[in-house]
Amino acid sequence: MENSTKVENKKVLIKLEKVGKIYKTGQIVYEALHDIDLEVTEGELVVILGPSGSGKSTLLNVIGGLDNATSGKIYFGDDEITAFNDTRLGKFRARDVGIIFQFYNLVPSLTAYENVDLMRDLGIDIIDPTEALGLVGLADKSTNFPSQMSGGQQQRVAIARAIAKKPRLLLCDEPTGALDTNTGREVLKLLQDQSRIDKRTVVMVTHNALFAEIADKVIMVKNGTIDEIVINDNPKDAFDLEW
Ligand SMILES: Nc1ncnc2c1ncn2[C@@H]1O[C@H](COP(=O)(O)OP(=O)(O)OP(=O)(O)O)[C@@H](O)[C@H]1O
Ligand SMILES: [Mg+2]
Repeated sequence: MENSTKVENKKVLIKLEKVGKIYKTGQIVYEALHDIDLEVTEGELVVILGPSGSGKSTLLNVIGGLDNATSGKIYFGDDEITAFNDTRLGKFRARDVGIIFQFYNLVPSLTAYENVDLMRDLGIDIIDPTEALGLVGLADKSTNFPSQMSGGQQQRVAIARAIAKKPRLLLCDEPTGALDTNTGREVLKLLQDQSRIDKRTVVMVTHNALFAEIADKVIMVKNGTIDEIVINDNPKDAFDLEW
């Protein structure tokens, strides 16, 4: 009984209906996504798995409004983002979506503090950068430049930057791809806490099938389509992940 109540209370944050993406390069047409139907509920940790070239990043990018779908509809809450004009789409990305990439994407000439504060310069409302760096355990590194930090620390700065604006949606593309096992586990734990503690919706792309164990929902992508969706009733804590 408890379970069914839990399900009923969950609100759908992201909904995709028959989403397609076609890339055209000169004469070559490539269908990267075909008829994707998908729902992600609020606060859920979703892991997208699939082989290289299967369309994982493309799927993440169209969900976050970084790239336009060619067909179908994408909803964020009550809004249809596929109907947004460029200004509205820009606002959606700036306000509601935090993005974390494999290679951190920090500005080399700026300190950790300034890399987070950069969001404010872009007109985005954020919490104090010192507080954001504290949340990822880097309060003592705020004056370090990226070159003066380890890969894991740089990725944590990128996470601090993404969460400083308190986005409803956190998108991560291979966030541990450049990290060793222990550092990767710490980053995964941080991302999992974003969903568990802060009730933020987290969608993570990875080719590491082990990460499926920490997800509430696992989406298997194959040749631009969804091959399988698995619901995990008891996801593992990221700290208990062995790889
Ligand atoms: N801008 C683009 N123009 C043309 N084709 C593209 C473009 N971006 C991606 N593709 C193609 O779309 C397909 C899906 O690419 P995508 O980057 O989504 O794969 P992926 O699952 O993220 O792979 P990986 O695990 O290697 O990152 C690939 O075949 C790729 O070559
Ligand atoms: Mg990719």
